Amino acid sequence: MLSKKTKELTTQNDCSLIKKYRNFAFIYKAKGIMDLIQEINKLKKEKNAIILTHCYQRVEIDEVSDYVGDSFYLSKMASKTNADIILFAGVYFMAQSAKLLSPNKKVLLPNLKSGCIMADMIDVENLQLFKNQHPNIPVVCYINSTAEVKALCDVCCTSSNAVEVVKNLGEKEVLFVPDTYLGSYVQSKLPDIKITTFNGFCPTHLRIRKEDIELARKNHPDALILAHPECHKEVSKLADFVGSTKEIMEFSKQTNYKKYIIATEKGVVDRLNRDSKKENWGKEFILINENIICPNMKFNTLECIYETLKTENNEITIDPEIAKKATRCIEKMFTITV
Ligand code: 13P
Ligand code: SF4
Repeated sequence: MLSKKTKELTTQNDCSLIKKYRNFAFIYKAKGIMDLIQEINKLKKEKNAIILTHCYQRVEIDEVSDYVGDSFYLSKMASKTNADIILFAGVYFMAQSAKLLSPNKKVLLPNLKSGCIMADMIDVENLQLFKNQHPNIPVVCYINSTAEVKALCDVCCTSSNAVEVVKNLGEKEVLFVPDTYLGSYVQSKLPDIKITTFNGFCPTHLRIRKEDIELARKNHPDALILAHPECHKEVSKLADFVGSTKEIMEFSKQTNYKKYIIATEKGVVDRLNRDSKKENWGKEFILINENIICPNMKFNTLECIYETLKTENNEITIDPEIAKKATRCIEKMFTITV
């Protein structure tokens, strides 16, 4: 059963923002979409800038993006680019990770308030408390965390490599922060390692209930159900496949079903349906429940991307001492995974 606190947070948290997102047609009235796309692409060329876009962003942002993908892919791209400016269409911790991996580049985030609700559930103080309660145990942190938190952890992971990172660390016991559900998913795959999780969670993914899965099974008996490991464990248990954003997208392309129920953020479904139409896959992708929208991911619009690129405001800066330690935490992830 979901706890009372979890139920409250997942139902109340950001419904007004979700309503606003559904009515976002007004946003592009001032400038036409095509004008904006053209002007952003022109600015990118003039400034030697690239745009990295997470697949939970509004789908039209892909039109100006150089790379679109999940956290792991985008952090790799950030570390490899020769551009002078990286504009990150995503949330705060993603832009911070790009800055850590490309310290000499200017990294811009269109809206500095677009934090990840889960990442903000842990700070230096309560991480220290958690570590004191479980002394001398290495800490694995999900990339959905701030640079300050990463600086106090041993190794970072993303949802695509969390199992591999914990396994390759070679320890008998680890602490996992901040996502208790990704941590318990890793635990289910690695029963010989003792994993103690912090009690953070993603309110967007926790809005998916086991009842949604049961209903989807009843209404679409011919479909496969694919879920993100940030979902509640009751949901993951009932899904046909559990994987990161990238794994969900790849799995649905590689398997031969006509219909898929997607239990993760709406942006993934929008992109899969767009590509299915464009490339004639003949597949249909259905969002498990219409409220699975991360409001903070939707703060970014083409308008604010244009403004940010033009003004070069909203630059990400990180204290050098924190940056040194946090970079070590991310780089360790790259050294212990393929
Ligand atoms: P990915 O690691 O799958 O990109 O997910 C990031 C995220 O914020 C999921 O909610
Ligand atoms: Fe954070 Fe959840 Fe939004 Fe991902 S979907 S950015 S974990 S709040």
